[in-house]
Amino acid sequence: MKTLIKNGKVIDPSQKIEKKMNILIDGKLIKEYPGNIKELEKRKDLKVIDANKLVVVPGLIDIHVHLREPGFEHKETIRTGTLSAAAGGFTSIACMPNTDPINDNASVTDYILLKARTEGIVNVLPIGAITKSEEGNQLAEIGEMYKAGCVAISDDGMPVTNSNLMRRAMEYVKAFNLPVIVHAEDTYLSDDGVMNEGKTSTMLGLKGIPNASEEVMIARDIFLSELTGTDLHICHVSTEGSVRVIREAKKRGVKVTAEATPHHFLLTDEEVYNYNTNAKMNPPLRTSKDVKAIIKGLKDGTLDVIATDHAPHSEDEKNVEFDIAPFGIVGLETALPLSLKLVEDKILTISQLIEKLTINPANIVNSDKGTLKKNKVADITIFDPKEEYLIDKNNFYSKGKNTPFQDWKVRGKVKYTIVSGKIVYKN
Ligand code: DOR
Repeated sequence: MKTLIKNGKVIDPSQKIEKKMNILIDGKLIKEYPGNIKELEKRKDLKVIDANKLVVVPGLIDIHVHLREPGFEHKETIRTGTLSAAAGGFTSIACMPNTDPINDNASVTDYILLKARTEGIVNVLPIGAITKSEEGNQLAEIGEMYKAGCVAISDDGMPVTNSNLMRRAMEYVKAFNLPVIVHAEDTYLSDDGVMNEGKTSTMLGLKGIPNASEEVMIARDIFLSELTGTDLHICHVSTEGSVRVIREAKKRGVKVTAEATPHHFLLTDEEVYNYNTNAKMNPPLRTSKDVKAIIKGLKDGTLDVIATDHAPHSEDEKNVEFDIAPFGIVGLETALPLSLKLVEDKILTISQLIEKLTINPANIVNSDKGTLKKNKVADITIFDPKEEYLIDKNNFYSKGKNTPFQDWKVRGKVKYTIVSGKIVYKN
């Protein structure tokens, strides 16, 4: 079966393409970019997608997702999480290991990949734990997880406190060329805080998490990456100081990359007024000074990737006192329109934005996706950059409705998500 995507504005930062053109898919692969399509269109076995006025990009890639299965299927499953991804324009998602059981050995990795193959809608790239049970005491079965298909290791949510163990993990994964992905947090400094430490936390009477809690761990892991020569990727950067430390490390040639989430570049801790538990996540929303620094970091390339930290929780779990609500918000179905605000505000060009959602995340997890190159697998997202609408959690495919962006007016609607040449989502 052949599919022709015609007349779309194609943006592929991996090839520096930004122009109106046609793309022909043959089976699972991108075959060619036909100029004259008159003859082609006469073929009976051809499916045609008219992408006039639409933008055609490599399938989006989110390297920070919590799929919750196995163990927390009431929050999300591999089925609903991948449906949510497809609706958000993501064709590949990397899932964090904090499931139950934790993905710290090959049998859990096998389970996730089997479920993804049989019930999943988009590509699932598992991330294995750094330590057994994410307890920070003993290295997990990293070699076996690599063989089973893990693309990175991380103890996301449960940072590795023992610096020597982190050093050993970094040395060990070099053999497999896997990146170490860190949720940078000194939990002693966080000290059971529940939001950003500052004026707002004082006014609300809530315990704060200082910026330094993130910054000192980023600095530590940068030095350990320098010591070991291991690829380090830093999750959800939230503070001005973190951006500064990463920028300086990159200048020195340290192999460090970093991501920002839409909530950290769009919202401040004032969102927590009214004790809104859908504004509770870890790292927490910070101040406008931090938001400005993150935007600057996105602009100057210090922050390479936009990722969601999609963290679904049930409404019952979030509908409790702020102090005891779990950290996390959903993000897969809102990331593209929210990120397009950076283009509207002239912070990034559309090509720079798409780069942070495609080829940059692909490179971090050593994937050959994130590109529309000929003979590559046809993972493609098509969206209308102008369509305006209100975000409505009731329309989410995700089981998680925990978003602080309810009723936000946004622009940019996913029209088609194509995985391996097949339309998996159409709006
Ligand atoms: O907000 C968060 N939610 N931060 C984390 O570190 C973990 C995540 C989750 O799993 O819910």
